[in-house]
Amino acid sequence: MFNLTDKVVVITGAAGGLGKAFALAFAEQGAKIAVCDKNIQGAIETAGEIKGAIAIEVDVANEQSTQRMAQQVMDSFGRIDVLVNNAAIYATIQRKPFFEITEAEWDLVMNVNLKGVWMVSKAIFPFMKNNGSGKIINISSATVMSGSPNWSHYVASKGGVIGFTRSMAKELGDFHINVNTIAPGFTLTEASLSLMENANKYGVDRGAIKRPSSAEDIVGTALYLASPASDFVTGQTIVVDGGKQFI
Ligand SMILES: NC(=O)c1ccc[n+]([C@@H]2O[C@H](COP(=O)([O-])OP(=O)(O)OC[C@H]3O[C@@H](n4cnc5c(N)ncnc54)[C@H](O)[C@@H]3O)[C@@H](O)[C@H]2O)c1
Repeated sequence: MFNLTDKVVVITGAAGGLGKAFALAFAEQGAKIAVCDKNIQGAIETAGEIKGAIAIEVDVANEQSTQRMAQQVMDSFGRIDVLVNNAAIYATIQRKPFFEITEAEWDLVMNVNLKGVWMVSKAIFPFMKNNGSGKIINISSATVMSGSPNWSHYVASKGGVIGFTRSMAKELGDFHINVNTIAPGFTLTEASLSLMENANKYGVDRGAIKRPSSAEDIVGTALYLASPASDFVTGQTIVVDGGKQFI
């Protein structure tokens, strides 16, 4: 569908779930994949399923680690065309009212989910600038549009990603680097399935399209945002949730 032959794609949080689905889908379009994750064993397993892919251990909340990751991709592939900022703390977050969240919990979520997006983008930017082009795709969440109780730090971190995307897009237009956000609705992954019983029924009735969403429902938007078909699209947030909410 989208020819991404030899494009070098860096995907964070790609050991499993949505990140792995992105890795497999981009590889199918001919891209060279850097599978990056704190969970190096999972990253190695994902990379093992993709011809020519490399696995890199990274903590997106650590600046040295993100810079090392970017350099490792350059050493292996010599360029970076696409970055998918997908890594996040998600299913392991302990749900509680905002007034019970500790400072340490707040900081951890912000450091990975928001600061991590900034830091990985900062590490990769010089190489995209040298290329004279690039596509950055940030993964937020549709929960930002509706609000959602008992994980306000998560929702706030994902809201921050949308604001950061818009500012970065304005800064990077002159460098021919597009920056966009995908905001998935509840999507069945190993992580989300662990959140509740009957997860596959969650929110289905509220959608225009009344079926559960899988990672495969999200990847098409990422391929589009990585491809020349979206060259005039930047700073945008695309909600992919089967029509549960409109922005
Ligand atoms: N599944 C859903 O319903 C859903 C809905 C909306 C948004 N999202 C977002 O989609 C993305 C993927 O979600 P998922 O369901 O696949 O969850 P997931 O937990 O499987 O994926 C997150 C990945 O990030 C990695 N990670 C965590 N901290 C890291 C760090 N400090 N450095 C590097 N890697 C780190 C984890 O090891 C994991 O592989 C996340 O950004 C999540 O917030 C998911």
